[in-house]
Amino acid sequence: MKVSKVLLVVVILATLAALVGCAAPAAAPATSNQATTSDQAAPADQAAPAEQGKKTYKDLVVGYAQLGAESEWRTANTASIKETADELGVTLKFSDAQQKQENQIKAIRSFIAQGVDVIGVPPVVETGWETVFKEAQDAGIPIILVDRRADVPEDMYVSYLGSDFVEEGRKAGNEMNKLLPDGGKIVELVGTVGSAPANDRFSGFRETLNPNIEIIDSQSGDFTRAKGKEVMEAFLKKYGNEITALYAHNDDMALGAIQAIEEYGLKPGEDIKIVSIDAVRGAFQAMIDGKLNVTVECNPLLGPQFYDLALKVVNGEEVPKWLPSAESVYYPDNAAEVLPTRQY
Ligand code: AHR
Repeated sequence: MKVSKVLLVVVILATLAALVGCAAPAAAPATSNQATTSDQAAPADQAAPAEQGKKTYKDLVVGYAQLGAESEWRTANTASIKETADELGVTLKFSDAQQKQENQIKAIRSFIAQGVDVIGVPPVVETGWETVFKEAQDAGIPIILVDRRADVPEDMYVSYLGSDFVEEGRKAGNEMNKLLPDGGKIVELVGTVGSAPANDRFSGFRETLNPNIEIIDSQSGDFTRAKGKEVMEAFLKKYGNEITALYAHNDDMALGAIQAIEEYGLKPGEDIKIVSIDAVRGAFQAMIDGKLNVTVECNPLLGPQFYDLALKVVNGEEVPKWLPSAESVYYPDNAAEVLPTRQY
């Protein structure tokens, strides 16, 4: 009798212990912290909603404050930005500032008011951007600098996508040295005053130019064909046959200057050697015609990389502070072969 009572107590205690043992884990509440701690692998069904929350190209609304339509290069850049948006299904709000900083600033303010996700801007000049960039920052809208840099603190933009203009200037200087081994007197057509490509192509060129080559004059042609022609006419009037070569900060100005040189009665590419920058189709044709000696490439087809950056930025992914473009140098000897492959 005593034995069976003891057995009964043992059975009851064992049953209770088993019940308590099973109930304990279920009783512990799962906190939200426990569900997401970094040292635990999140179950697949918990990771999925975060991925689903990411934006795609079709959700993206982008404002692009284009600086103008001053050159073949710019036309190609605009086409790349617009066509890539269409292909990807990005909603693009585009504005053309006609080379005026105040118009670019107005466009940025209008994009802020419309609440776009990202703003892309090629600053027409380097300075004067802090106020409007701060307004975008306060509105939580990231700025991506495209093609040209702005002189602002690095935290005011998320990334710069574009060329190394100083390096382009250095390459142009090296090419000029090859064309004038015995030295010479050259004139320079500078881009838009105060713009990053004009500043950097000016200084890069001087870094590599041989000391036996003298820059006798340097004036702005504002990156346009018409002004390039006008300023070259003035150079010819002033220096005539003294000029042995021309360095133009872009192909459009060089193409305008070629016309001026021909009208003056000299042979561009022979009497006056010419080095320019961009590598647009018009420059290839001029090289085929023997009127231009070298063009240093500057790539305007930035659309695909721009939207890739924009999407990463809105999804909180890391992006590089500078995404440089890969660029070459082109010469007359294979211009006819290369021209059909050029997209701009
Ligand atoms: O910023 C790029 C420069 O701008 C190109 O070299 C020039 O052609 C354009 O207008």
